[in-house]
Amino acid sequence: MLQRCILRPCHVLTLVLFVSASDDFDWTKNERTSFYYGTFPTGFSWGAGSSAYQTEGAWNIDGKGMSIWDAFAHKKGKIFSNDTGDSSCEGYYKFKDDVTLMKDMKFNHYRFSISWPRILPSGLKSEHINEKGIKYYDDLINMLLDNKITPIVTLYHWDLPQVLQEKYGGWQNVSMVNYFNDFANLCFERFGNRVKYWITFNNPWSIAVEGYETGEHAPGLKLKGTGAYKAAHHIIKAHAKVWHTYDMQWRSKQKGLIGISLTADWGEPVDITNQRDIEAAERYIQFYMGWFATPIFNGDYPQVMKDYIGRKSGQQGLGASRLPVFSPQEKSYIKGTCDFLGLGHFTTRYVTLKNYPSGLGDSYFADRDLAELVDPQWPDPGSEWLYSVPWGFRRLLNFVKTQYGNPMIYVTENGVSEKMLCTDLCDDWRVKYFKDYINEMLKAIKDGANVKGYTAWSFLDNFEWDEGYSERFGLYYVDFRNKNKPRYPKASVQFYKRIISSNGFPNQREVESWKRKAVETCSSSNQLLAADPLIGHMEMVTEIVVPTVCTLCILLSAVFLMFLLRGRL
Ligand code: NOJ
Repeated sequence: MLQRCILRPCHVLTLVLFVSASDDFDWTKNERTSFYYGTFPTGFSWGAGSSAYQTEGAWNIDGKGMSIWDAFAHKKGKIFSNDTGDSSCEGYYKFKDDVTLMKDMKFNHYRFSISWPRILPSGLKSEHINEKGIKYYDDLINMLLDNKITPIVTLYHWDLPQVLQEKYGGWQNVSMVNYFNDFANLCFERFGNRVKYWITFNNPWSIAVEGYETGEHAPGLKLKGTGAYKAAHHIIKAHAKVWHTYDMQWRSKQKGLIGISLTADWGEPVDITNQRDIEAAERYIQFYMGWFATPIFNGDYPQVMKDYIGRKSGQQGLGASRLPVFSPQEKSYIKGTCDFLGLGHFTTRYVTLKNYPSGLGDSYFADRDLAELVDPQWPDPGSEWLYSVPWGFRRLLNFVKTQYGNPMIYVTENGVSEKMLCTDLCDDWRVKYFKDYINEMLKAIKDGANVKGYTAWSFLDNFEWDEGYSERFGLYYVDFRNKNKPRYPKASVQFYKRIISSNGFPNQREVESWKRKAVETCSSSNQLLAADPLIGHMEMVTEIVVPTVCTLCILLSAVFLMFLLRGRL
């Protein structure tokens, strides 16, 4: 994903006292303590997540409009192996089976997103509301509630209606603020009597940087040095507007909560005795999570973003900063628009100063002026960018606690992938990832972080954006070769189920036995999966060959009978 090089042994950290660069957060206190046996506070919520484009399929069914991801994935060369989300996990058709699986795991909540063009095909509420799309989400929500699973609903997980991209330039255009607000308002009106947890945007960093700066994601624009800042500016305004709409029009009746989900990897200074490394690490975090969290919690962009982007813009001879500015009214309108913070967290980087040579042109990455490094010893089981570094999670949660006034946090995404070619359902590396990351979250709660729920990413293997189906994050394996998209539990299903039923990690003996049992039971799932091509073949025989042969027989008999009758006449 991003630039990275290998951490040399000489960079190994030494713990030395140092004054923190940001309020209250102590960069020098990185305790890497051993596993902590204990349980989570009563009422802690457990679940898993998905998103519409990644799992639903049915891309052009029942009146759904096209999204920017439909358009992007249909262009050759944009997605690994030219995969698309056209049918994906067929979640649109299989949601009842999926909720049954969730019930079996005893989930307290399930996080999913609503596809904007499925319910507003042209993006505009004033033009056409697709009742069939509404019915799909109605049915899903009702089925979840019937099974005592709380829906946590994301309004925007990246699938903007394509019409809005073509007509207005998508998030480059401030008119999205009102269109998104109309869409959100419709969702509150139709689903808000049953949905009590709303998330406006999922990972706006990705929307802005990968959609409008690097172009790796839809809509695939490469507006370096400006596009991401402009998109983010409009997204923050849209978030605030929707929060106010909920607050003014719906909260008193529906009594729900509304937040945003930010993805934030942790940045650790390479050398915590070096002030420049500490500043670089803080820049990494401020240009990532702080870009969105600071306006929403504290009223404006992080000072370091204003300083760096402003200075670089000046060096380029621009009259104004490439980072847009909020007016005083906008600042106070945006500040405080978050009932809870959704956090998506996957990995960590060591960070140091880079000293980008000037004259390389504008870019978000040059503006941050830092280099990312990884420790070669960190496990790297799946996605190229995803190293397993559990202690970074505790650091991040503590940073959030100190920076934004200890907000209520729901972890909205955390998990690890494996490569496409790995069909082993005995995913012991994922079991270890979940065990250690969830344990660091428990330590952070002990430190005082206000974490209320945890959402494993993801419930099913699904369409992993520009990586197509080549990276699998699911607790459940999905056999994409089979048109029925059957689901098979990985060992991590069993393990996560035990964490949920014990609300944590009761004691060493028990946790060790869960691990053993999980890995034992997965071998039978492996056998089932191995038999899948055979089953697929048999299905083809019963669904295609048998009906075709029967039809042919009937036709031939009819023709034969006609000839017979003619001969007699
Ligand atoms: C964050 C995104 O929200 C999600 O859609 C994606 O699958 C995960 N990262 C893993 O890359």
